[in-house]
Amino acid sequence: MTKSVAIIGSQWGDEGKGKITDFLTKDVDYVVRFQGGNNAGHTIWIDGKKTVLHVIPSGILNKDKISVIDHGVVFDPDNFLKEVAGLERAGVDINPRNLKISNECSVITSYHKILDGAREDASANKIGTTKKGIGPAYEDRVSRKGLKLKHLLNKENLKKKLEGLFFEKKILFDNVYHCEYPSIDEEVQSLFEMGNSIAPFLVDTFSLYDKDDKITLFEGAQGVLLDKDFGSYPFVTSSSTSYAGIFSGSSNTHNIIDDVIGITKAYTTRVGSGPFPTESECEDSVTLGRVGHEFGATTGRKRRCGWLDLPLLRYAIKVSRFTSLALTKVDVLCAIDKIKVCYAYEYEGQIIETAFAGIDLEKVKPLYKEFDSFKDTVVNGSLDQKLEEYISYIEQQLNINVSMVAFGPDRSQLHHRHALNIFQ
Ligand code: GDP
Ligand code: IMO
Ligand code: MG
Repeated sequence: MTKSVAIIGSQWGDEGKGKITDFLTKDVDYVVRFQGGNNAGHTIWIDGKKTVLHVIPSGILNKDKISVIDHGVVFDPDNFLKEVAGLERAGVDINPRNLKISNECSVITSYHKILDGAREDASANKIGTTKKGIGPAYEDRVSRKGLKLKHLLNKENLKKKLEGLFFEKKILFDNVYHCEYPSIDEEVQSLFEMGNSIAPFLVDTFSLYDKDDKITLFEGAQGVLLDKDFGSYPFVTSSSTSYAGIFSGSSNTHNIIDDVIGITKAYTTRVGSGPFPTESECEDSVTLGRVGHEFGATTGRKRRCGWLDLPLLRYAIKVSRFTSLALTKVDVLCAIDKIKVCYAYEYEGQIIETAFAGIDLEKVKPLYKEFDSFKDTVVNGSLDQKLEEYISYIEQQLNINVSMVAFGPDRSQLHHRHALNIFQ
């Protein structure tokens, strides 16, 4: 029987997806990225050693498992080769047996990165993107001008396609943004050479997955609130970050997904612009940021911090069909005296328990319940009593189990509360 588990961020990203993916990899066969690109930064700590992954799946530290970058991902060849080189220097074994890349992934070229950066710099209403070319690459995919990885292998064909992709961008670069860019010939040469280095990893993922007795983990990037359709538009990324994205972004979808785990930070953070209801009244945001080391794993930007937001979580659970939550970073709350949880909003004269797509998050007033802090997390394998009460409140309010509790960054700092369906 094939089985599968999805790791999906339930907030605005950086919830600890990398840690949970790495932990579960020992129990699965494939770890599959299905959307996003190297805008992601997934951190794993093992015995004091830190690894940050961007486009390479967080299964890669388990060398006997197969990590897959599937066709829904936008792929920057230059960044990928640098990521591989960095991991190899750190002693990670990466080869075409343990890493497979779909030849149908869309390519992020230099032109996409330049356009992303130029637009951000010129915009009066900045989204605060990672400037990795994610949005422009997805635009070209949807408008049918984009390059796929398989196109990098034939130089003549590559040049023709790149000219098509560049035609309108050149006008923007020369006349609107006034920026520098590589010539078509330079870009063709560079993409062709990088394509040759990547070629050994390229596969047709539709024929890759073995259907019998295999378990797949789908590793989401970003989070539901950054989903291009369900998120806080326009302050979102350009992919389907929720459950739905798995079905269009991967070719390994034989069954329903047995576990959809919503990875949830015990408070809320956000990088980049956009509304954030529980940020403004969070008198402890500086402490959360300092103790939680809340700096972006990709851009190094300071993450904005606020309290846990249950109306948004109820919405994320609905949108992404979570079967359980993994609650992370509970240890950070030990540094706070009075912990607040937003249980509902006041909005247009009404009490709102579940956020919804059209709600104006700038106009909601969060209502809070206060908790006494817990000074410890896990003692002799059991959760501290006050922490247990905090988690039970969240479970009861959201009507969902918390299957795992992370109480520190290390792989070993994970407490299990409820068994996952893939193990039953
Ligand atoms: P991701 O993008 O969802 O994989 O998350 P990031 O790696 O961007 O950010 C999560 C940060 O929190 C990383 O620095 C992790 O090492 C760290 N982290 C994960 N879980 C825990 C936890 O339970 N406690 C603490 N203190 N840090 C954690
Ligand atoms: P992981 O997988 C947090 C945010 C950016 C910006 C918006 C659009 O590590 O959780 P983009 O470059 O995607 O066009 O930027 O999305 N963003 C993330 N925020 N974690 C991430 O990934 C993010 N990836 C993109 O900050 O607000
Ligand atoms: Mg991250």
